[in-house]
Amino acid sequence: MEFKSDIFSQFDKKWALLTAGTEENFNTMTISWGGLGTLWSRPVATVYVRQSRYTHEYMDDNDYFTVSFYPEEYKKELGVLGSKSGRDMDKMNDSGLTSVKCGESMSFKEAEVTLVCKKLFKQTLLKENMPIDVADACYADNDLHDMYIGEVIEIK
Ligand SMILES: Cc1cc2nc3c(=O)[nH]c(=O)nc-3n(C[C@H](O)[C@H](O)[C@H](O)COP(=O)(O)O)c2cc1C
Repeated sequence: MEFKSDIFSQFDKKWALLTAGTEENFNTMTISWGGLGTLWSRPVATVYVRQSRYTHEYMDDNDYFTVSFYPEEYKKELGVLGSKSGRDMDKMNDSGLTSVKCGESMSFKEAEVTLVCKKLFKQTLLKENMPIDVADACYADNDLHDMYIGEVIEIK
C-alpha cells in the first residue's frame, strides 16, 4: 500500500493545537502526538494529554474539543502555546492567534483545518501496559498521558 501524502508527519512535524472550552473560558495547547482513524464505525481523532496540563482540566470539563492545523508561518506561535501554560498566560488574548468559536468548541482564525470533535472515550496510559523503556523515558515523574478519543463531527 502506498500513501500519497506523508500522513505520519501531520502531527509529528506540523504540530497542531488542541483546544477545549467555551468562548468565555477555554484553553489551548500545542500537541504533536495524536492520530486520525476509525473507531466504532466513526471517524475519530485521538490525542494524548499529560495530566499536569491546564488543558487537561478543560478536556475533562467539556464534551467537545478541536484539533486544528496551521500553516508553517505560525510555528513560532505554536511553540509559545506549547511552552507556556494557560495558568501563567492569557492564551485567549496573548497567543498571537485570533480565537474563534468553532462548532461547539473553539479554534483560531489562522487554522488551515479544524476538526471539531465530540468526546467519546478517555483512558489513562498505564505504565504497566507499556514497554519498560518507554515508561522510564517518558514517565519517570509519573505525569501520565490520558488518551482522549473524539468523534470528528465537523471539518472546518
Ligand atoms: C511541539 C510540541 C508538542 C507537544 N505535544 C504535546 C502532546 O502531545 N501532549 C501533551 O500533553 N503535551 C504536549 N506538549 C506540551 C504542551 O503543549 C505544553 O506543556 C503546554 O504549555 C501546556 O499548556 P497548558 O498548561 O496551558 O495546557 C507539546 C509541546 C510542544 C512544543
